[in-house]
Amino acid sequence: MSVMYICGGRPLEGEVAVQGAKNSVLPILAACLLADGPVVLEHCPRLSDVTAALDILTHLGCRVRQEGHMVTVDPQGASGCALSERQTRAMRSSIMFLGPLLARMGRASLAYPGGCELGPRPIDLHLSAIRALGCEALEEGGRICCRGHPAGGEIRLALPSVGATENAMLCAVGAAGESVIQNAAREPEIVDLQNFLNTLGARVRGAGSGVITVEGGRPLSGGRYTIMGDRMAAATLLSAAASAGGHVVLRGVDWRHLSTVLEVFHRAGCRVRSREDRVELKRDPDCPLRGVDLIRTAPYPGFPTDAQAPVMAALAAARGSTCFLETMFDSRYRHVVQLRRMGADITVAGRLARVRGVEQLHAAAVTAQDLRGGAALAVAALGARGESILSGLHHVDRGYEALEDVLRQLGGCVRREEAGRTQPA
Ligand code: UD1
Repeated sequence: MSVMYICGGRPLEGEVAVQGAKNSVLPILAACLLADGPVVLEHCPRLSDVTAALDILTHLGCRVRQEGHMVTVDPQGASGCALSERQTRAMRSSIMFLGPLLARMGRASLAYPGGCELGPRPIDLHLSAIRALGCEALEEGGRICCRGHPAGGEIRLALPSVGATENAMLCAVGAAGESVIQNAAREPEIVDLQNFLNTLGARVRGAGSGVITVEGGRPLSGGRYTIMGDRMAAATLLSAAASAGGHVVLRGVDWRHLSTVLEVFHRAGCRVRSREDRVELKRDPDCPLRGVDLIRTAPYPGFPTDAQAPVMAALAAARGSTCFLETMFDSRYRHVVQLRRMGADITVAGRLARVRGVEQLHAAAVTAQDLRGGAALAVAALGARGESILSGLHHVDRGYEALEDVLRQLGGCVRREEAGRTQPA
């Protein structure tokens, strides 16, 4: 078991480059199946979810190489179309292989991804999207079996689901004819996927708006692409600086992707500066944060659900109260019990969490219950009095590359202990 020791109360100072975006790289890795030559991805974060996606690609017959932050996927020998139960469950984004497998093989078989730590995560919109493109999707004995070569069509999503939009795009790229996705999600990672596909020769337009048009049936070549910066990792580091105080500069992230998060920190009393691909946050450690009334999560361009937990952790020691309304997922307050162990005063009623700021959090032994909630506990610990011990790091490793190293680069007193091995602080 790995644990992180975090000694709070030391301001964060310095500049770091933000990792590549987890939520971009996962659909892009699945999309590599559509190419007819090697694809080189740069700025690819080293995450356990990326390892799981590479494992699936290898299993399907691709040749895969990972060197530092560069990943090469050669899909030319790919012939598999079934994912095992272990592969499907290792990562919820395994569902992203559905569209590309249908487009390439005309068949796909996956175990049912089921629920996850955020509560039930249905896939009905993914299935209705591929059905709208003329494919058959049956759920049999806990597996999803799909077949048919996709044809162009109109997909009208009942909700702007990020994953269903991406799956629809990937299936439509392989369909003969034009497809239109209505009520598409607008997240920046969908624009990154469009840019990637177009780099390989696809014709996709409209990503970032609610209507995406795909001219399908064009062969996709290999190519080279650089993954965008991770706005959620950036939001977490900004939350850490807001929690501990200090002055951090983040490079390699588009500030416009973070505007709702930056607005919250501005209202909480931080000095925020941004230009192009740099974001800066400054908070005087002697001047506490202020509560910000209400934060309501919403699809992009609203306040991101993935930033809810880290921002809550920072505001747990603000002067005044903040209410959070989580509209995206049922079970996204599992960090609250852990934050309470550190002295936070938070009550939850359904989708509403009320945070009454306390003067300072104190150290505790806490356990990550999910990815963003785990990062939130690190954020809280950096602002707390004393040394906290954070376990459950396998959740954090899904989406953050060496979080302890990044926090240490910013002057945080953080060390990680892997079964019997200790890193220097
Ligand atoms: C993606 C992100 C995740 C983020 C979420 C919302 C990735 C790899 N993950 O997840 O970090 O928190 O967007 O911004 O990109 N829904 C259905 N039926 C479906 C699909 C979704 O009802 O078939 C519902 C979900 O239960 C949820 C809402 O739609 O309530 C939004 O989910 P969705 O946008 O699909 O999230 P993901 O793509 O899974």
